[in-house]
Amino acid sequence: MIYEGKAKRVYEVVGQPESVIVVYKDDATAFNGAKHASLEGKGVLNLAISTVIFEWLKQAGIASHYIRTLSDREMLVRRVEIVPLEVVIRNRVAGSLAKRLGIAEGVTLTEPFVEWYYKNDDLGDPLVTEAHIRVLGVATPEILASLEAQAQKINQVLRANLHKAGIELVDAKFEFGLTKEGTLILADEISPDTCRFWDTATEEKLDKDRFRRDLGGVMEAYQEILRRIKGVQA
Ligand code: C5P
Repeated sequence: MIYEGKAKRVYEVVGQPESVIVVYKDDATAFNGAKHASLEGKGVLNLAISTVIFEWLKQAGIASHYIRTLSDREMLVRRVEIVPLEVVIRNRVAGSLAKRLGIAEGVTLTEPFVEWYYKNDDLGDPLVTEAHIRVLGVATPEILASLEAQAQKINQVLRANLHKAGIELVDAKFEFGLTKEGTLILADEISPDTCRFWDTATEEKLDKDRFRRDLGGVMEAYQEILRRIKGVQA
């Protein structure tokens, strides 16, 4: 094991320096780890959901760390050096944006836009500006432009496919990593832990907000997302 995070463990593969195995855990955390629980089967569901989504992206020609899924909890991925930025893209107002700007949740944004958060547990992953990112030295303006363009493209593909499943993508968080060859590719997971998914017709929340806000039915919602997206042809 080379890394253990809140929701995943990463293992080296003997004799394969360019790939690692990501194991999806059942731990659920929110509010920078202040709220914690173990939700039985969450890792299995998030891995299955991420697999469907990474396959969609592959078909759309979007590079990611995904190679293949090995078991119900293990994904083989390309080894990358993670850029310490959380790239959040928003289609509708929700969560911290609603709170920060005092705008009601659900308001549709004219254009999807990107926000940057500095990945740092001690600081609680703060929102940062491009100037802050330059001061931190974590990415050049060229890298930010590339991350933003990739995030917009990924958002488009996800929205179109999710729409076919009766799911609206409200917002999403992406992480990117640098390969040995120096290309930036999508990494981490894409799941109800890292996206807001609303039922298109009823706007029912089918994501981690059910855990954050004690709405109940967390695993049922994740199961429902998997059930709906499984049949979608990209
Ligand atoms: O909380 P906030 O509204 O900023 O979250 C925006 C999006 O980023 C949500 O989909 C949320 O699930 C995701 N997110 C995440 N990891 C974090 C913070 C937010 O996946 N540490």
